[in-house]
Amino acid sequence: MNKTIENTMNELRTDHRNMTMLLDLLDSETLRLLEDGEPDYQLVTDIMTYMTEYPDTIHHPKEDLIYGHISAKREGLEKALQHIEIDHKTLGESCRELLRDLDAISDDSAADRESLAAALRKYSLDLRKHMYWEEKDLFELADSMQDDEAWAELLKSHDIGRDPLFGSSVERRFQKLFNSIQRRMVWDSQQYFV
Ligand SMILES: [Fe+2]
Ligand SMILES: [Fe+2]
Repeated sequence: MNKTIENTMNELRTDHRNMTMLLDLLDSETLRLLEDGEPDYQLVTDIMTYMTEYPDTIHHPKEDLIYGHISAKREGLEKALQHIEIDHKTLGESCRELLRDLDAISDDSAADRESLAAALRKYSLDLRKHMYWEEKDLFELADSMQDDEAWAELLKSHDIGRDPLFGSSVERRFQKLFNSIQRRMVWDSQQYFV
């Protein structure tokens, strides 16, 4: 099936909604860490593992491809778009660093908890800001260029990849995370109808 820029932008927006759900879960665990509660470290590790596997390797490269084309076509945007690649690199590095921190957390000391909570909070805020900016600015630019005939050829070259959590089937190693997302959605909908 030929990919259109319209489909691709829909996929990117869906990815953002999915990532936002994961960040909501992550923020709840960060709050537990800060309030001396019992965070679910496995859940946090699963979220960060997913982030290194799908957003960092499929979502962000797809955006880099699109932004590269936009900046080649629209004069004066290169500088504004340069920081996207930098953001993607930085977010990927933070993600991998957080996974190392999670792996190293052994004695659950107050200092460990505090620095982990600060790093998780920063990651969540940075990614939320990044997605907000993309949606308000760059996604709209891409939408306005849907008539560009070069998209078809460009998108053909992109490896679509597979989403191991929100794709057609959930990989077994992400099943626990998937169940947590579903529980959270049920809880959210109950709050809405109270
Ligand atoms: Fe991005
Ligand atoms: Fe994005």
